[in-house]
Amino acid sequence: MPDYHYEVTSLPVDETLFYRRADSVQRLRFLVRYAHFAPSTYNSQPWKFRVQQNQIWVYADSSRWLKIADSDKREMYLSLGCAIENLQIAADHYSFKSEIKYFPDPLQPELVAILELYGRESDAQLTDAAMMQAIAIRRICRGHYQREPLQASHWALIESCNSDGVYLFSTRQMPQLRGKIAELTPLAYQVLYSDRAYLRERKQSFTYRQADLQGLRALLRRAVPIALSGNPGKKLGQRDQALIQNAPGLIVLGTQKDSPEMHVKAGRVFQRIGLIASSLGIGTQVHSQILEIPELRSELREYTRRQVYPTMICRIGYSKRKPKPTPRRPLEDVLI
Ligand SMILES: Cc1cc2nc3c(=O)[nH]c(=O)nc-3n(C[C@H](O)[C@H](O)[C@H](O)COP(=O)(O)O)c2cc1C
Repeated sequence: MPDYHYEVTSLPVDETLFYRRADSVQRLRFLVRYAHFAPSTYNSQPWKFRVQQNQIWVYADSSRWLKIADSDKREMYLSLGCAIENLQIAADHYSFKSEIKYFPDPLQPELVAILELYGRESDAQLTDAAMMQAIAIRRICRGHYQREPLQASHWALIESCNSDGVYLFSTRQMPQLRGKIAELTPLAYQVLYSDRAYLRERKQSFTYRQADLQGLRALLRRAVPIALSGNPGKKLGQRDQALIQNAPGLIVLGTQKDSPEMHVKAGRVFQRIGLIASSLGIGTQVHSQILEIPELRSELREYTRRQVYPTMICRIGYSKRKPKPTPRRPLEDVLI
């Protein structure tokens, strides 16, 4: 199981620190802090980075893989995709041109990608400055959103994020998705919360998020899932069902193939959505439970009537409040 040594790190970082590093390897190591600020399943941060000359090697850290909740590693690869998206946005911001190769070495399955970076002639940035700023403000927003529907122009920006074999289904285009997701969610919770191994892993991962808290507050937070253990699946399922029914929008990302590479690419799309959404004051929350149960995942797949594999379900809406930043491991722990 992963260690609990987390600290609260926050962005924005002082950008002049990048330019004060004369050494190119140090400059690339600096970029890694942006990747490390990405979302990850249960905040597991399942990544490691190695800088070699003008390359950043991105590894899956399987010691942080949640074997029960994420038996096919789909969520682990989605998380890695989020980190890679941040990395490429940051590279562009600091005037690098980058090329990416996914799973470049079949003998090293943990090596998820190599980003090769070159200095660019022009300082003009390829990505919007707002995307870079959004890396610092993006958070997962739990709880209810405002009832206000999403503006059509905001929907259009979010829906434009599908790419490279990753498809986006939204309740704007397919309103019937909401009913299906709302129907399957309580079922998913009941299945998961009746599995002792899942509960053990869930409790463990809950402590990752709270590891920075000390004393009584920490104790109270950790006691919550235990106190709920009477029939937690039912209550949590009903809670999420209401969140889904009342959400201004839902998104399902689907991939052409059910492969690690496609899951990484879907993670990149999800992160792009999260960044655009944050810059517009829109909150996002992932609802993983349905997709963690193969039978329910298949049912959702049938429902979308396309030859795609559902890889992520996300709720969106104008957020009521800005959540606090979540802790990250010290940066040195993810640099090898
Ligand atoms: C693949 C993936 C699956 C996730 N699943 C859930 C989920 O089911 N429920 C939830 O509340 N958050 C979920 N999250 C959000 C993480 O808990 C969150 O990213 C992490 O705690 C870090 O917080 P931050 O994103 O606000 O920085 C998921 C994130 C990813 C990348």
